[in-house]
Amino acid sequence: MASYTSISEAAKEGSQVIIRGWVHRKRESGGIIFLVVRDRTGIIQVAVKKDSVDAASWSAAQQATIESSVIAGGTLNLDKRAPTGYEIKASKMEVVGIAEPFPITEYQSTELLLDKRHLWLRSQRMTAIMRARSYLFRYTRRFLDSQGFYEVTPPLITKAGGETGADMFEVDYFGQKAYLTESSQLYAEAMCFSLEKVYSFVPSYRAEKSRTVKHLAEYWHLEPEMIYYDNSKSMKLQEKLISYLARNLLKEEDMLKAVGVDAERLKKIRPPFKKVSYEKAISLLNEKGSKKQWGDDFGVEDEKLLTQDEEKPMFIYNWPKEIKPFYMPINPKDERTVICSDLQAPAGHGEIIGGSEREWRYDELKKRIAYVEQVKGVKFNMDNYSWWMDLRRYGSVPHAGFGMGMERVIKWLLNLDHIRDAIPFPRMINRMEP
Ligand code: 4AD
Ligand code: MG
Repeated sequence: MASYTSISEAAKEGSQVIIRGWVHRKRESGGIIFLVVRDRTGIIQVAVKKDSVDAASWSAAQQATIESSVIAGGTLNLDKRAPTGYEIKASKMEVVGIAEPFPITEYQSTELLLDKRHLWLRSQRMTAIMRARSYLFRYTRRFLDSQGFYEVTPPLITKAGGETGADMFEVDYFGQKAYLTESSQLYAEAMCFSLEKVYSFVPSYRAEKSRTVKHLAEYWHLEPEMIYYDNSKSMKLQEKLISYLARNLLKEEDMLKAVGVDAERLKKIRPPFKKVSYEKAISLLNEKGSKKQWGDDFGVEDEKLLTQDEEKPMFIYNWPKEIKPFYMPINPKDERTVICSDLQAPAGHGEIIGGSEREWRYDELKKRIAYVEQVKGVKFNMDNYSWWMDLRRYGSVPHAGFGMGMERVIKWLLNLDHIRDAIPFPRMINRMEP
């Protein structure tokens, strides 16, 4: 058969069409076999009538099982009884690959769907989510490219193991101890000293033993790094980026419908976002009945309390220096804090971005590291960081950056219950297959 149309195009164009897809449902009634066929754009009913097709086509329709791959050609008709209002009256029909009895039927347990993830990804809902994921990756790159950024590619195997190497996956690197990266920030910093505005967009690995709806052991991490940016300017960029993602997603109406996303929710995501200092956030929490005190980190419950009535994300800036990493500079206006911000998604979806200015002065950075070592009782292996410290020795400049967890953003924008559905093959504490 000659040239193909997608199912959504077929429904628009009419007349003679040929489609390629997989059998989604099948029934037979009065000498007609009705196949609902899916492709990445949707589903359509194909009616194969014994008298209207040749013997080979009829036999193909008879043989076709659920999830068999098929090619069908015929005339497009409006038909109110068909699932999408259209039907193809087949003149030709071919099975490409027959499917054995499909292991997923209706009403399966979550565990089975995860075990059969490689097949469950064909469901209409997962197909729509994976389309959304691809769009969001595309929009993210498009936005940053339009803002004058270069994409850079850091190594994923590293010796610079965060602060202590805790929460990192250890790798035996030809007999040496190495780690899977938990953030590409340090490498992005190195590259912004040549390319000025860069982003890396690769996975990060976290060996946290968290069993929550928002933790993955492997997630896709967008990490922009910009010279001569302070954190305020960085927050503006984050606001623009997030709003750009929401605005562009609105164009994909059929995808939003398939996932069940309320477009009105997305329309509200426009700059500016609320900006609340850590100090203010503590008093807001106290007003809402929480016992949190200055110096405490926030947990899931606090995040929920703070954001449950919000419609847009909200920045919480300038956190206590004890609970933030060594590379964040002391805030001269309140030396108990560092210059940074977390972006909290509304409605308790949790932190989607963490960002800060970077301590760019060599001596100050050494002091920060010594302070963190003292407070946390840890010892940095400076051999692994000397290259990164070097950046402060050869023409350093102020710079800032942030890290955005793509699956957190997808979970929030699509209002998914669990982060595992934001990624095709989730890696979680209790799962790394398929
Ligand atoms: O807040 P985090 O740990 O910050 C960093 O790694 C910085 N080095 C980023 C930077 O400034 N370049 O992580 C950043 C973001 C979080 O806000 C969250 O969205 C996501 O990464 N994230 C996770 N997403 C899924 N599963 C996990 N276990 C995650 N841990 C962090
Ligand atoms: Mg964080």
